[in-house]
Amino acid sequence: MAEVLVTRRLPDGGTEPLLAAGHHVLGGVRELPWAHDELAAAVPDVDGLVCLLDEQVDEGVLERGAAGRLKVVANVAVGYDNIDVTAAARLGIVVCNTPGVLDEATADVAFLLVLAAARVASDAERELRAGRFTGWGIDKYLGRDVAGAVLGIVGYGRIGRAVATRGAGFGMTVLHHSRTPTGEPGYVAGLDDLLERTDIVSLHVPLTDATRHLIGPRELERMGPGSVLVNTARGPVVDEEALAAALESGTIFAAGLDVYEREPAVHPRLLAAPRTVLLPHIGSATFTTRRTMARLACRQVCDVLAGVAPPHPVLPAVP
Ligand code: NAP
Ligand code: GLV
Repeated sequence: MAEVLVTRRLPDGGTEPLLAAGHHVLGGVRELPWAHDELAAAVPDVDGLVCLLDEQVDEGVLERGAAGRLKVVANVAVGYDNIDVTAAARLGIVVCNTPGVLDEATADVAFLLVLAAARVASDAERELRAGRFTGWGIDKYLGRDVAGAVLGIVGYGRIGRAVATRGAGFGMTVLHHSRTPTGEPGYVAGLDDLLERTDIVSLHVPLTDATRHLIGPRELERMGPGSVLVNTARGPVVDEEALAAALESGTIFAAGLDVYEREPAVHPRLLAAPRTVLLPHIGSATFTTRRTMARLACRQVCDVLAGVAPPHPVLPAVP
């Protein structure tokens, strides 16, 4: 029997794979993220760690774990920019994530933001709630047509493809961009080219050194005044200061965001920006999806502790 630290309260049944395998589950009750030093102090005494995306499992934490008996870290998320996977590989600690099981839920939220941002839904709802709905207005809350628009998907992986399906279903022309040519219709090799050719851009890249501030002032200029930006990837993929300025000046038309550079803080200029829809990182937040993610993470800890290859190990990027 191994000891596994589950940093937070997981959805009902989430830790069941660990319990069924006879492991001793520690924690599993907290609502808030563990602080770095607290995590570093706890990991040497456990065999496995199940953590969430807002907990920093950096080199220091991993070195402390490796000096003890930590063998596996499972992130209840597909994005793993909170874990130093290079250090983990060097230290012989297996890292796992939860790809695939959240694609549809996250694509739904991305498309929700496409529709809500293009149709200025947040501004309109805010006015209504403030008691300023004075009747149907021929020139009030005018948005951009989604049907017939060109949708640009940046990062054409699991979630990007699921968003592309939704776009096609809504009568959009869909283009996509990634570093590796897909060989599929709609592939655009250059990001600048994609930004210039699309009306609505939806981001689905992981956060890496290469994607940090992928969208900055220059890219927003390229998108143009009628365009809409949607970000459900990771906050730092977009330069928020530049985005706020672009929304204020009309450099782009609207934005829909689920993720932020310094979560849970939201840039005050974005909170005040016009034609901006803001959600609190809820891409995968359905009952079923979150439970499935939790179980998948816990099952992979069981696999590693049993000496079995887990289905979704994360490996360091090849330079
Ligand atoms: P994925 O299947 O690995 O797809 C990522 C795509 O990004 C691939 O097509 C990849 O292709 C491309 N890419 C990587 N680096 C790039 C770069 N520098 N320039 C252009 N394209 C690049 O990942 P996924 O499962 O779809 O998840 C994507 C991200 O969504 C996650 O990493 C996570 O951060 C985020 N996410 C957010 C939520 C939420 O709640 N808002 C939920 C789930 C996931 P190439 O490598 O060929 O370029
Ligand atoms: C959520 O943001 C995830 O990466 O799963």
